[in-house]
Amino acid sequence: MPLPSDERIVKLANDLVAQLDTLFGLHPGFRPAHAKGVMLTGTFTPTHEAASLTRAPHATHASTPVIARFSDGTGVPTIPDNDPNASPRGLAIRFQLGEHVHTDIVSQSTDGFPTRNGQEFLEFLRAIAAGDPSSFLAGHPAALAFVQTPKPSPASFATEAYFSVTAFRFVNAKGEARFGRYRIVPGAGLEFLDDATAKARDPHYLFDELASRIAAGPVRFDLQVQVANSGDVVDDATIHWPADRPIVNFGSMNLTAFAPDDDSHRRIIFDPIPRVDGIEPSGDPLLELRAAVYLLTGRRRRQAGQAHA
Ligand code: HEM
Repeated sequence: MPLPSDERIVKLANDLVAQLDTLFGLHPGFRPAHAKGVMLTGTFTPTHEAASLTRAPHATHASTPVIARFSDGTGVPTIPDNDPNASPRGLAIRFQLGEHVHTDIVSQSTDGFPTRNGQEFLEFLRAIAAGDPSSFLAGHPAALAFVQTPKPSPASFATEAYFSVTAFRFVNAKGEARFGRYRIVPGAGLEFLDDATAKARDPHYLFDELASRIAAGPVRFDLQVQVANSGDVVDDATIHWPADRPIVNFGSMNLTAFAPDDDSHRRIIFDPIPRVDGIEPSGDPLLELRAAVYLLTGRRRRQAGQAHA
């Protein structure tokens, strides 16, 4: 996959990477955001409803192998899991449709984003790096709302819900198109820790917990798509749709083991754009920009030498 031909997007992507490097420090071989993570493997099984939404292969095949990566927030590879900045957590999923053919979902545990586009996000990161984002927040209500959204520490990566944040255009076999956003809901139910309990946990508690959970049996997530009404804003990650919008049950993912290859972390570059027939990007400006950012930092990581988590 090449970088976009629009030089402004590539420039903004590079500026964002440089700003993340400034904020979190350079950690060669690690991601500049969501640096601390773990990879698992499993299977996705679609519901019958899924094909009414999209003709994408994983919605019609009986099952599709997946790779999933859970992560803490920030570009600090040693961040304690109970650090408040470790939220939002990340969940990236790759559906392996065939040899070198795949489509991804990149999701996070907060439903929303602080800014509508990358330029504003760069300004936000700069304000944080300068030590006082209060005047930025005063002028950007969506960023303020995002910062103020409670982000409690989960009891487990498997008791957290994750959101794609950006919308996609789902097209089914009849050519019918609807916009939707993924929600990835834990089969184990939501469970969070109060601040005092989180503080008392081990800095690696989420990763240790996942190891014992996987050893005991598969970890299930239900994938849902919240579908927009016509007229809903579909190209702005800061805008939530009303809660009464229909939910399509898309399928379930069962994670069964840790990924066997230690180097898979470093190699894999998740793509926020689905690039599969039947699931198209919406006009959200974050999508193309993030695809460029992740490609730049993924290539940098691959060149950095030895395997890292
Ligand atoms: C302009 C906005 C954004 C920027 C600049 C940004 C930046 C980054 C960067 C640099 C990475 C590391 C990529 C890699 O090296 O492979 C990353 C990963 C990630 N981002 Fe973003 N991000 C943005 C928006 C978002 C949004 C809206 C979400 C929520 C859906 C999100 C969720 C994630 C997750 C889950 C990962 C980890 C993926 C993995 O496990 O490989 N990001 N982001």
